Amino acid sequence: MHGSRVSNGMSDSEETQLEARLAEQEAFEPPAEFVEQANVSDPSIYEEFEVEWPDCWERAADLLEWETDYDEVLVDDDEPFYEWFVGGELNASHNCLDRHLDSRGDELAIRWEGELGDTREFTYEELHREVNEFAAALRELGVEEDDVVTMYMPMIPELPVAMLACARIGAPHSVVFAGFSADALATRMNAADSEFLVTCDGYYRRGDALDHLSKADDGLDGVDHGTTTVVVDRLGDDHDHDHDLGDDQLDYDDLVADHAGAEVEPVTRDAEDMLFLMYTSGTTGKPKGVKHTTGGYLSYVSWTSHAVLDVKPDDTYWCAADIGWITGHSYIVYGPLALGTTTVMYEGTPDYPDKDRLWDIVESYGVNQLYTAPTAIRAFMKWGAEYPDRHDLSSLRLLGTVGEPINPKAWKWYYKHIGDESCPVVDTWWQTETGGMMITTLPGIGEMKPGAAGPPLPGVDAAVVDGDGEAVSPGEAGYLVVDRPWPGMLRTLYRNDERFVEEYWEAYSDPDADEWVYFPEDGAKIDEDGYITILGRVDDVINVSGHRLGTMEIESAVVDVEGVAEAAAVGGDHEMKGEAVYAYVILEDGYEESEEMRDRVVEGVEEAIGPIARPEEVVFTPELPKTRSGKIMRRLLEDIANGDELGNTSTLRNPDIVEDIETKVAGD
Ligand code: WT7
Repeated sequence: MHGSRVSNGMSDSEETQLEARLAEQEAFEPPAEFVEQANVSDPSIYEEFEVEWPDCWERAADLLEWETDYDEVLVDDDEPFYEWFVGGELNASHNCLDRHLDSRGDELAIRWEGELGDTREFTYEELHREVNEFAAALRELGVEEDDVVTMYMPMIPELPVAMLACARIGAPHSVVFAGFSADALATRMNAADSEFLVTCDGYYRRGDALDHLSKADDGLDGVDHGTTTVVVDRLGDDHDHDHDLGDDQLDYDDLVADHAGAEVEPVTRDAEDMLFLMYTSGTTGKPKGVKHTTGGYLSYVSWTSHAVLDVKPDDTYWCAADIGWITGHSYIVYGPLALGTTTVMYEGTPDYPDKDRLWDIVESYGVNQLYTAPTAIRAFMKWGAEYPDRHDLSSLRLLGTVGEPINPKAWKWYYKHIGDESCPVVDTWWQTETGGMMITTLPGIGEMKPGAAGPPLPGVDAAVVDGDGEAVSPGEAGYLVVDRPWPGMLRTLYRNDERFVEEYWEAYSDPDADEWVYFPEDGAKIDEDGYITILGRVDDVINVSGHRLGTMEIESAVVDVEGVAEAAAVGGDHEMKGEAVYAYVILEDGYEESEEMRDRVVEGVEEAIGPIARPEEVVFTPELPKTRSGKIMRRLLEDIANGDELGNTSTLRNPDIVEDIETKVAGD
């Protein structure tokens, strides 16, 4: 166990032998002590879900409290517009709060830690109280059922409070990642006609107080309708920014104080009513508003938290993601709180004030499950095992990863140095659109194979096919598809049913034969045991540190820079980030390649999207490689970024340029 490892007295050569053994091992059995206590440990579940499908999903719905029972598990009259738990009524805030009050009112719902080491805790009782007060305040401000409320907030407790307050009054939320730019905020508020914003004055990053409100204000300048804004005071006296609130801006604490003791009856929502919207990047420049529902989504994230993350009410569970992404919605807020557990939130970066930070939190809070991203694990590996090794991590029972493929080496490092070879590792494949996990081993059942996410979850039907939709042979690369609907699926793209059908269903469905196949736009391969390895996106989406960015969005930001004529953005392999942005730029006549031009391109992207989209390399070139029909050959640009052997260039209109660009990148 962990405790013993802290002083395990292993000699260097024993340590080396262990590394060598791990390096060769391709499959790992779930640890017996985990299996004994697992929420789900009977392998017959796979078979049962097949036989009972779609009624198997009643098991997920049974984890919730319904005001009115549903009549039908699945209605598929109008494919691919599926409906789940039809006729059922419930409220998500009631399910995450009220129903736990009798049994767990005094237990902790949220344990929050600020970057400076300040802490805040909310019992279920306390969280319930604040959610009620803020819900009453939102109502008074004029928020009505079905109004979209935008949140532009970092990792502070008021974010889940605001989300649950919205859920309570039936107002869908749309959370915009705090690291996104002002422009990104404006685009999303305009797209949803959202008239309400909850934001904050600032937050801490590496010890600095960041001014967030100015960015929010800039964003609001770009919103084409009137808005009301609530501002949380996170920094207190610790900010030197001039933060006088405007006429249409209200202070969060004042509002909550004005509604002290208020009680707001949770609004009865249909299972299919929208719980929230989340904008994500796609192939075109315009972000897609993914719509998730109250019944199906909440059932699905509760079920997967139970079956995959093995969450139990008495656990202290930590998903170290940001609530600004779907991972945080599903597995910091809704899943864990629906199950009545204690969910940990951390505001800051993992290496502030030093590289012990996460292991300090795990040790001092007694964290039982840790769910994080491969990009973080690669950073831990690079920093070295000394940091986790000097902490007692024996409270950990399960480890998880999400967001991008994890290479076997990083998987094994995580398994050994964080999990002490006694915690199963779940490598969970899913997307903003799927709502919750789809492909992963069940930790109490399945053998784990580092690098492969695993088989589809019980009840999920995923396959790897070729361009014609035929299953590929084991080991061959193909496209991932999902052959059956599932309760957590997106219902549509907000106000754009057409794009929903086009983006996700057209590629592999055969509507005439009534065959509907969901296409997640990932490449994959499958082995003899049905384990799926994800190979990455096959559309124009880059995955930087587990964050999804559209190359078109980046390109349009670059082209907006004065002096830029044309641009192509692609993802190149990156040791830490998984992928990094490479921007190939053609300048207008009269502009010269220079450091200054380079900086302007980088700044332009940061301003339009946010620092996460910052190009790693800006390559100036007089031309871009194009096909005879004028299409930019992004594949070649990717090969160049990766220093790979170039594919066939003979079909290009301008084959010579490729060599020039290659020489240039290699010389940098
Ligand atoms: C894309 C979805 C799911 C929440 C975070 C990202 C990639 C996700 C894995 C994994 C390999 C993965 C896929 C997917 N991805 N999880 N375990 N192994 N790739 O959500 O922003 O919607 O991105 O992330 O490419 O399509 P997202």
